[in-house]
Amino acid sequence: MAMGPSRIYRLCRKPVYRLRPVSTSGMTAIAAPKGVYDVVGAQAQRFDVLENSFRETTARYGYERVRIPVFERTDLFVRSVGEATDIVRKEMYTFTDRADRSLTLRPEGTAGVVRCFVEHHYDQEGLPWKVAYDGPMFRAENVQRGRHRQFYQLGIEAIGVDDPALDVEVIALGWDFLSGLGLCDLNLLVNTMGRPDEREDYVADLREHMLGSAGDLAAEDQERLERNPLRILDSKDPALAPVLTGAPRLRDYLDDRSTAHFASVLAGLDEIGVPYTTCDRLVRGLDYYTSTTFEYTSGSLDAAQNALGGGGHYDGLVEMLGGPALGGIGFALGVERILLACEAEDVFGTAGPRGQVVDVVVLQAGDVGVAVQRLVRDLRKAGIATDTSYGGRSLKAQFRHADRLGARLAIVVGERDLERGVVTIRDLTSGAQSEVNLDNVTEVISS
Ligand code: HAM
Repeated sequence: MAMGPSRIYRLCRKPVYRLRPVSTSGMTAIAAPKGVYDVVGAQAQRFDVLENSFRETTARYGYERVRIPVFERTDLFVRSVGEATDIVRKEMYTFTDRADRSLTLRPEGTAGVVRCFVEHHYDQEGLPWKVAYDGPMFRAENVQRGRHRQFYQLGIEAIGVDDPALDVEVIALGWDFLSGLGLCDLNLLVNTMGRPDEREDYVADLREHMLGSAGDLAAEDQERLERNPLRILDSKDPALAPVLTGAPRLRDYLDDRSTAHFASVLAGLDEIGVPYTTCDRLVRGLDYYTSTTFEYTSGSLDAAQNALGGGGHYDGLVEMLGGPALGGIGFALGVERILLACEAEDVFGTAGPRGQVVDVVVLQAGDVGVAVQRLVRDLRKAGIATDTSYGGRSLKAQFRHADRLGARLAIVVGERDLERGVVTIRDLTSGAQSEVNLDNVTEVISS
């Protein structure tokens, strides 16, 4: 039986932590740690659909695959993501190895990709260096729907060339991937964060503007105002709306070059028909961002988890990590968030995998010996996904098993039928069945 979407997404919606206190052996069962979850059955198939589709899309746009390490030296993230960010201050899984080196499970992929670019001198090859990656990331966040401690990202980075056309390509790739999945309720927000030198005056003016209303700020926002006033702009606190009205706009602090770059990006998006909204308040939560930034959001999800992904330029990062003065741009998408949006829009209800493990199951009625093993092997070698049952279970139990595997057909091999050289093929959806010569089974099923 195919697994229904409610069963499939339960883990995304609210991770289920089962603790069986004592087993029959007297041993206490060990539950998974908070914030991680198992991806099994139809949910694993949906992960595959997303990952395969992302690999196919990025290959079509000329991005090579990279696999970067799951842990890196802690300094890499402190230097790139930024000391003042929530990620570095509160969310990293940092540990010391046996040689007393500080290592951290990657909270995101950009730092590792840029480290790889610098370490292996990819600047000496044709630029831009365009790469795609996917895999787990780790942040010790407050766990809630769409927010986990081990979560999965799909990302790309294009390093080494500063051209608004490349920004357009990167933004369009993410858009094409998400809409290609069948998602319709999508929004693309774009902004520009300028260069750090352009931001200096802006941050000073913003701080001054905010200080005028500091008494109205929540403690958390007051702290942000101290540490990094830009982060106030993307605060979700509704009480901030009046304070932010009339706040200076970063866009007005940019020089002609930055203004022209952003205008070209918007013109490019217009030209290729990718719809967007400009959003002055879109400042992203990592310190390395400069120039064009963007976010893909879903209108079908609550504000707390509606960001399906985001990215932007990081023009000082390569240099900051010891490489040449080259910029980069990229994005990362959150797999769990995309799956939530797919569920909300019922994308897999009409066009996705059905939770089918195999196409055919061979069932055994009586003592049929090795004939079953030969038949199963022949079917598998012919490219037909096939399984059988083990452990001498009743025919009824075997049919239940076939149902659970989502099989389309059951082949019943009976003791007496075998003597006549025939088996019965049953269509598990319609119940229609027919007798087929054992030697013709593969041919009949393949036709
Ligand atoms: P980010 O905005 O931190 O960017 O993460 C990208 C996406 O990952 C988010 O929009 C969200 O969908 C997902 N995500 C983040 N944290 C969690 C979590 N705890 N649980 C579930 N999903 C989560 C970056 O990571 C940048 N490296 C993107 C980038 C690449 N910028 C340039 N290149």
